[in-house]
Amino acid sequence: MNKSKLSLPKDKIKILLLEGVHKSSVDLFQQNGYNNIKYLSGALEKEELIKEVKDIHLIGIRSRSLITEHVLKHANKLIAIGCFSIGTNQVNLNAAKLKGIPVFNAPFSNTRSVAELVISEAISLLRKIPEKNFAAHKGEWLKDASSSFEARGKVIGIIGYGHIGSQVSILAENFGMKVVYYDIEKKLNLGNSKPCNSLEELLAQSDIVTLHVPETPLTKSMISQKEIGLMKKGASIINASRGSVVDLDALKDSLIRNHLSGAAIDVFSEEPSSNKERFVSALQGLDNVILTPHIGGSTSEAQENIAIEVTEKLIKYSNVGSTLGATNFVEVSLAPNINTQRYLHIHENKPGILNKITKVFTTKKINIASQYLQTDPHIGYVILDINGKVNSAQILSELKSIRGTIKTRVLY
Ligand code: NAI
Repeated sequence: MNKSKLSLPKDKIKILLLEGVHKSSVDLFQQNGYNNIKYLSGALEKEELIKEVKDIHLIGIRSRSLITEHVLKHANKLIAIGCFSIGTNQVNLNAAKLKGIPVFNAPFSNTRSVAELVISEAISLLRKIPEKNFAAHKGEWLKDASSSFEARGKVIGIIGYGHIGSQVSILAENFGMKVVYYDIEKKLNLGNSKPCNSLEELLAQSDIVTLHVPETPLTKSMISQKEIGLMKKGASIINASRGSVVDLDALKDSLIRNHLSGAAIDVFSEEPSSNKERFVSALQGLDNVILTPHIGGSTSEAQENIAIEVTEKLIKYSNVGSTLGATNFVEVSLAPNINTQRYLHIHENKPGILNKITKVFTTKKINIASQYLQTDPHIGYVILDINGKVNSAQILSELKSIRGTIKTRVLY
């Protein structure tokens, strides 16, 4: 087979890693033969970023680098963006897609970190640690066993049994807690956990209620005055999901009336955008409330996991064209075939383009070993493996000249 020089050697693939992403990313790139890496500990200002991005094939950022449409206009060699973060708000996802650039992130790398925080808060709330800690700082000695409880045997009610909710379930059972959960989707029970048919059923029996739902119209204020009224007297609530899910005024009222005994809140409808901004909450000053600055997923391990997950996705895309896990792109993956040559073609989703791509090969009597196309309303992405000796320079040039082509590459 003609192993075309057109497939860029790995040491020519330029990688820019910004904002001090975890070093495990660099290690992983290097282990996979990618050595052309520029690593910077900070973000780049707009003009600097534009200058750097012109020559770059892969870029890794955290949340402070803004990849706007304007920046993307200058990123003509860029093949993929890695957001070393949970979200991808820092990138203009649509503009990237229309330029044929998939964006990868790591939505579940901090799952365990959130689950551990929740368990520690459940135990703290059962033992009344927040108020005893508050008192001790003021010189008061609240030695008293009457309102402190073990976690063993208590019921934890998990609302949203997805990635985090199910991890909380496993950890809670290991502490001897009874787990009930409520989810709008049918879920597989882990361990001895039991599903509830309704939110009301969960609220009525839980000593601790913990929320792990996304922000949707259905979850907005899903815990408000009425739902809190359905909870057991003396129960506690934990929210490390989204700020809009719990009505904090209603929660405050129930804490002051001693209906609920405590709360731990990590997420707020309005959060400071930086550590320099002041944080304001209706719950400030209540000694039975744990307030944390949205740190559920903020651990060193999560940072490392994020780096590994995003780097693996970038390498997989660069090596075999897989877009599995891309947030803005059609998901296409084709197992590598032995003795084939692989072409990638990203194009505008217009009728007839696949036909023209196929013809580039069939008119030369080149056998297409396998191909996989996915489209969305805007773009189409096809991975195509062929057998035999070919002039890949000519093929690439013909593929590029098809009207509507956004990007095309030969991989191996
Ligand atoms: P996930 O998508 O894996 O699970 C969410 C679950 O909620 C799904 O099983 C879904 O079916 C269920 N659900 C959706 N609407 C529901 C409703 N109305 N009632 C009951 N169940 C419903 O999400 P994951 O990864 O477990 O994250 C959960 C939440 O935690 C998200 O809001 C996420 O933003 C937040 N989060 C917070 C972090 C922090 O630092 N505090 C870090 C990571 C995630």
